[in-house]
Amino acid sequence: MKFTRTLAGVAASALVLTLSACGSSQKTADQAAPSGASAAGGLVGVTMPTKSSERWIHDGDNIKSALEKLGYKVDLQYAENDIPTQVNQIENQITKGAKLLVIASIDGTAITTQLQEAADRKIPVIAYDRLIRNSPNVDYYATFDNFKVGVEQANSLVKGLGDGPGPFNVELFAGSPDDNNATFFFNGAMSVLKPLMDSGKLVVKSGQTDFARAAILRWDPATAQRRMEDLLTKTYTGGAKVAGVLSPYDGLSIGILSALKSNGYGTAGQPYPIVTGQDAEVASVKSIIAGEQYSTVFKDTRILADTTVKMADAVLKGGKPEVNNTKDYDNGKKVVPSYLLQPVTVDKANYQKELVDSGYYTAGQLK
Ligand code: GAL
Repeated sequence: MKFTRTLAGVAASALVLTLSACGSSQKTADQAAPSGASAAGGLVGVTMPTKSSERWIHDGDNIKSALEKLGYKVDLQYAENDIPTQVNQIENQITKGAKLLVIASIDGTAITTQLQEAADRKIPVIAYDRLIRNSPNVDYYATFDNFKVGVEQANSLVKGLGDGPGPFNVELFAGSPDDNNATFFFNGAMSVLKPLMDSGKLVVKSGQTDFARAAILRWDPATAQRRMEDLLTKTYTGGAKVAGVLSPYDGLSIGILSALKSNGYGTAGQPYPIVTGQDAEVASVKSIIAGEQYSTVFKDTRILADTTVKMADAVLKGGKPEVNNTKDYDNGKKVVPSYLLQPVTVDKANYQKELVDSGYYTAGQLK
């Protein structure tokens, strides 16, 4: 994905280059490590993709408050899914003297230049939730087991369809092609669904079974709604009905459910198909309680933020953070040492326990 840098961005990088060129011993990326003493209490730059999805708001708030509790200053930025904006935010944080960057990228391949600048100034980088690709200058990655998220979504879809022999008509959606997670989710889901498609229990009536056809750029709900409308009007003619939809994210699920509703689903005679999701966003949990969306995959952003902040603190103090995976997340330049957390499927049966009893939401927020 190409983008044009703004003048501010160019000026900021020129300044960074000038400053780093002045340093007598310019280190290579591999040598990048903060000097513990000077990093304590320093500035941490945190960039999140967008406020249009509430999960990133929780993520940003949780990281900021945990870092502040440890005495760090935090610059938290959102880019409304605009790549040049995120690039500028990272440039600015480098210029402002950030000691470490936490980045949830929009396009995982678009910030290579900025990360090189960071490495030149010995600023470590933690990829948050989404892997940053094509750069050797990513030190650590904190995320959930993304393959498992897809497995959970597919298992929930199959469970929702029930024990009957089928065949069940299903349609498949995937996330944004520039987000490394999207392929992990899709591959995880397909590891469960493909054998059932091969045996004939599941039928993707549209024939659109490959990632490229299923993908929704920037995870945009309106694009998902349009694609679902299209599938319904072109494929589900002559009385054919869709029984299940693999949706990888709650925002998409909402768009998919609206398309279904405007095509006559969601009544006693024609209930909604089984629709999955991810993120346990309030609107989707309410939809689950109302019997519309079937399930979501809950990834506790409190724990992800906490894990990331522990990593950041260890790195800033000159130590090595704990990781639990050093093989699965190859970003094209290196395998990034990662900490993977476990996702949990939430449906009508367990939302109370997982989301309310755990204090993630109050009962009132879900009314
Ligand atoms: C993914 C993330 C999901 C979901 C999606 C859309 O990268 O892992 O949890 O939030 O982006 O925002």
